[in-house]
Amino acid sequence: MSEFADKVVIVTGAARGLGRVTALAFAGEGARVVISDIDRAGGEETLEMVRQAGAQGLFLPTDVRVESEVEEMVAKTVESYGRLDCAVNNAGVVRFAPIDEETGESFDLHVDTNLRGVFHCMKHEIRQMKKNGGGAIVNQSSVTGSLTGNPTESLYAASKGGVDGLTKSVALEVAKHGISVNAIAACGIDAPGDVFHQWMEREGISAEEAGKMFPIGRLGQADELTAAVLFLCSEKARFILGHLLVIDGGWIAR
Ligand SMILES: NC(=O)c1ccc[n+]([C@@H]2O[C@H](COP(=O)([O-])OP(=O)(O)OC[C@H]3O[C@@H](n4cnc5c(N)ncnc54)[C@H](O)[C@@H]3O)[C@@H](O)[C@H]2O)c1
Repeated sequence: MSEFADKVVIVTGAARGLGRVTALAFAGEGARVVISDIDRAGGEETLEMVRQAGAQGLFLPTDVRVESEVEEMVAKTVESYGRLDCAVNNAGVVRFAPIDEETGESFDLHVDTNLRGVFHCMKHEIRQMKKNGGGAIVNQSSVTGSLTGNPTESLYAASKGGVDGLTKSVALEVAKHGISVNAIAACGIDAPGDVFHQWMEREGISAEEAGKMFPIGRLGQADELTAAVLFLCSEKARFILGHLLVIDGGWIAR
């Protein structure tokens, strides 16, 4: 039996893209999956897919920018399933513009969603995990942030760089409570609806052409991302703390 059977997992931003494939990967292991997102239609669709995979699940509409909604997300998870074992803080946004055309509104959107959202989630998830006696958190960061920059993504990079710092410091604070906190920096994962797919569609680039941009010569499969998320949430990974795991077909190593 999988070690995730009956474990309670929250995945934020699970209405599509990387969040959805992550929710389905936990469902495939028999976990009870809480799908959280601002997109109600997509969230309900992911819930249906989780149930079709034979797993239990819930959809909790949540805006990660609003602390009271995040607090309620964790409270409702515990009300339904009694505990919280793992959380994947994945909800995020990206908008593209050169810095001299950027706006305060765009700054707030990136920082409030990508950075403040992860702060809200970790705060309330950790309060509950301390009561459980342990848990595992994976924050969805990016290769664009503390590892590299990217033109027209400066505000996104600033918010994700913040996630990397937050991840390391919180990991040190909660290690003694049996809670592991790590982050993932993905790029080039072939997950329907994700921002990489949206970019390929916009540019009229096929998956095969896009794959050639990566040293490995292809895009990553969804399960190459989710295998890493599951590993970081597993008992085998409990000695790994505050780590930023790059999953990018060699993009950064170039
Ligand atoms: N796809 C990639 O190649 C890639 C690369 C690096 C990092 N990431 C990161 O992975 C995560 C998921 O990316 P994706 O490509 O699947 O993106 P996506 O846009 O397809 O999905 C993001 C999800 O987050 C939700 N969301 C947005 N704002 C929210 C809010 N305020 N509260 C709750 N939910 C909200 C959206 O509704 C959506 O379902 C993001 O944090 C992104 O920055 C993705």
